[in-house]
Amino acid sequence: VPIDVVTGAFSYTGSYIAQALLDEARNVRTLSRTPAPPGHPLADRMSRGNLQFSDRRGLVEDLRGAEVLFNTYWIRFPHRNSTFEEAVQNSRTLFEAAQEAGVRRIVHVSVTHATDHPEYPYLRGKAEVERALANVDISSAVVRPSLIFGGRQEILINNLTWLLRRMPVFVIPGDGTYRLQPVAVQDVARLAVRLGKSDERIVVDAVGPEIYTFEEFMRLLNRNAGTHTLFVRAPLSVVLPLTRILGRALRDVLVTENELREMIDEVMLSDAEPTGEVAFSEWLSRQGHAIGRRYAHELHRNWA
Ligand SMILES: NC(=O)c1ccc[n+]([C@@H]2O[C@H](COP(=O)([O-])OP(=O)(O)OC[C@H]3O[C@@H](n4cnc5c(N)ncnc54)[C@H](OP(=O)(O)O)[C@@H]3O)[C@@H](O)[C@H]2O)c1
Repeated sequence: VPIDVVTGAFSYTGSYIAQALLDEARNVRTLSRTPAPPGHPLADRMSRGNLQFSDRRGLVEDLRGAEVLFNTYWIRFPHRNSTFEEAVQNSRTLFEAAQEAGVRRIVHVSVTHATDHPEYPYLRGKAEVERALANVDISSAVVRPSLIFGGRQEILINNLTWLLRRMPVFVIPGDGTYRLQPVAVQDVARLAVRLGKSDERIVVDAVGPEIYTFEEFMRLLNRNAGTHTLFVRAPLSVVLPLTRILGRALRDVLVTENELREMIDEVMLSDAEPTGEVAFSEWLSRQGHAIGRRYAHELHRNWA
């Protein structure tokens, strides 16, 4: 049975891609920075290589014989010594190692609106990685999710709900009318696995069937969590200091200024046909009571 390699199969999206491959009785190897966390459901079902970029030979060896590489590697924001520029270079190293190892195809997870945006280095970095991918001599597909929901280890929607559970008032940045189009993590994984099977060079948005304004989205979370938090609207100049104070109290980065600006600029919205099937509202009516019970710590999880 051929083997596929998935980056981050003990983390968020990668674990659902690995699960979807295992469901099809494929062999899976993951590249991750650390061994499986205790009790991870996929711990005993995959081999593992190191997700590190300084030992190019090691990367090539871990990729040798692989049929498809599913790449989820990225950083959410620059922090300590890590920069988006470095993450672009690391992605390039990974693609070149895959080419050297004879990998047949790469399915790369990007983001909606991955363009050379003048203001947003996250999107610029993602656009640059897509170009690096086009420059290696391997067949490839690009999956561009919007805001991913569901499953273990989701951070943003969990923490928004966590806030609703603890705060009497939630401050909506701006007028709250900007839209987002969430997609289920299983839908992203299914799409990635399907694209791994073809040879077509393709770039496709991974977006769900429902579109919400941010305020509608927050009110739905409030209803399904059974909380009665009040909403007020305030300009970014008010919201940003609040997120920083909260972040300091939690010793975490709750959300960055650029992430908020990107959301207001409707980066998490697509004009393409939805590719995801799971409706956010349906998922939420099943899961709403369970999410946001515990805070999900970005820095502990990804920067420890
Ligand atoms: N989550 C979303 O809502 C969303 C929306 C749109 C696009 N995306 C894109 O989807 C992909 C997967 O995102 P995800 O949220 O599922 O991420 P994730 O699973 O937390 O991490 C993805 C991969 O990046 C590595 N990684 C994460 N933070 C890192 C850091 N600080 N330094 C070095 N490596 C790091 C992880 O390594 P380990 O496995 O070793 O931890 C993992 O292999 C990313 O490319 C992201 O840009 C995500």
